[in-house]
Amino acid sequence: MSSTAWALAASLLWLAATCYWLRPLWRRQQTTGEHQTLVVWASQTGQAERLGRQALRALQAAGQPAAGLPLGRLTPAHLLACRQLWLVASTYGDGQAPDSAQAFEHRLMPQGPALPELSFALLGLGDSQYPHFCAFAKRLESWLRDKGAQPLQDSIYLDNQDPDGLVRWHASLAQHTGIHALPETDEQPWQPVALLSRSALNPGSPSLTAYHLSLQADGLGPWQAGDLLELQHAGQRRLYSIANLGSSKQVELLVRHVMKEDGSQGLMSGWLCQQAAPGEQLEARVHHNPSFALPESPAPSILIGSGTGLAGLRALLQEQLQRGQPSWLLFGERSPEHDRWLASELDQLTPQQVLLQRCFSRNGAADAPRYVQDMLRDHSEQLHDWISVGASIRVCGSMAMGQAVDSILQGLLGAAAIKQMAADGRYRRDIY
Ligand SMILES: Cc1cc2nc3c(=O)[nH]c(=O)nc-3n(C[C@H](O)[C@H](O)[C@H](O)COP(=O)(O)OP(=O)(O)OC[C@H]3O[C@@H](n4cnc5c(N)ncnc54)[C@H](O)[C@@H]3O)c2cc1C
Ligand SMILES: Cc1cc2nc3c(=O)[nH]c(=O)nc-3n(C[C@H](O)[C@H](O)[C@H](O)COP(=O)(O)O)c2cc1C
Repeated sequence: MSSTAWALAASLLWLAATCYWLRPLWRRQQTTGEHQTLVVWASQTGQAERLGRQALRALQAAGQPAAGLPLGRLTPAHLLACRQLWLVASTYGDGQAPDSAQAFEHRLMPQGPALPELSFALLGLGDSQYPHFCAFAKRLESWLRDKGAQPLQDSIYLDNQDPDGLVRWHASLAQHTGIHALPETDEQPWQPVALLSRSALNPGSPSLTAYHLSLQADGLGPWQAGDLLELQHAGQRRLYSIANLGSSKQVELLVRHVMKEDGSQGLMSGWLCQQAAPGEQLEARVHHNPSFALPESPAPSILIGSGTGLAGLRALLQEQLQRGQPSWLLFGERSPEHDRWLASELDQLTPQQVLLQRCFSRNGAADAPRYVQDMLRDHSEQLHDWISVGASIRVCGSMAMGQAVDSILQGLLGAAAIKQMAADGRYRRDIY
């Protein structure tokens, strides 16, 4: 062999060895997409995701090759490759992580790697009317600090979308990107909508009266099942689950007329359910809530709720019917005589379309299930069967119902399985 051939062979050998030893590093860069700047959100009803995506667009507009993802998909490899982390996290339930981030908190946070090379900026979203204000975002901050990560600035904890805190967050983004006119969030503009019709869902019920409302919604952007409608009237803003698919110009809601112990009524629900005459206008915008949407791949669905929770479930059920997928709907209210909400519509569906089970907390029969969680427990075998063929679970309605259902599901399916289903988008809740 000539000396040139020897030199060539030696170079090839060196190259092969280098490739071999660098394999783990390359693999890590492939999985993290080589992004040293990450924007990560933990969101239950979409606000944190909207602000996270806005930060992502600002960083990208400044020429930084940033990537964005939900916290539930963040891995130790991402964290090790990342140098700058922008984090927007809300708190839900009673100081808990949003559903999609619970597996991250329980599995990754107790053990994750040391992160001495990471800098982070954190925006927590919360509401100080809850006893554990921004508790999850605060746990994230102390975890990052324990891991040796350095804060780029003081963390910002926003109380109920407090505008001053938002200005500080935007200022820090502007400082790091050099971009002062930040991209808009994908919040929809307010549109006028008119009340078209209102009918009581439960006349004579021992529960507070709830109404099925239709609003004329010509200017509203499209919505998908799972989205919310934000209403604004007389300086008040409230969220409502949209109860129909976004293919028509009418948006439907199921609203409970709130009456308080002192005899006063809820500001928004009182206006919607009593004062407003048909034709009267208010402002509305669609509040996208992608985490409550059905999973992309068609599959059976277990829809669980009580009271006005039927609103969000009805839109999902309509989508399931369009997809030709079966649903199991478990609905709870008070009175068997007066609380068969939307009976004329639901009772005409075939058992192949929907397996409908109702329960009533004031049912006279001693052996009848009273709450939706009782029905789940009584049909645990059926629950396992549905889950084993890939069914997803959606829960909509009151906090108390959502928590009772969560604990029975954890008991029946296992806490780890439930957290994994939440991380995979197969278990999601819209509870309030
Ligand atoms: C994700 C989500 C989905 C919902 N879906 C539905 C649904 O489908 N159907 C339904 O009936 N309800 C739904 N709600 C509840 C709804 O948003 C209202 O809370 C409910 O109608 C009572 O509002 P109210 O104005 O009548 O009562 P109020 O008692 O006047 O207000 C209710 C709450 O709003 C807050 N609030 C009061 N005044 C102010 C103020 N000035 N500024 C800011 N906040 C204030 C307070 O925390 C108060 O507890 C949902 C809530 C959420 C968060
Ligand atoms: C049912 C429910 C429970 C909540 N629990 C808390 C809480 O324990 N602590 C808190 O600070 N905020 C709490 N909040 C307020 C949310 O964190 C706040 O509305 C936030 O903007 C939601 O952001 P998201 O849309 O990204 O989930 C709660 C809100 C709801 C509707």
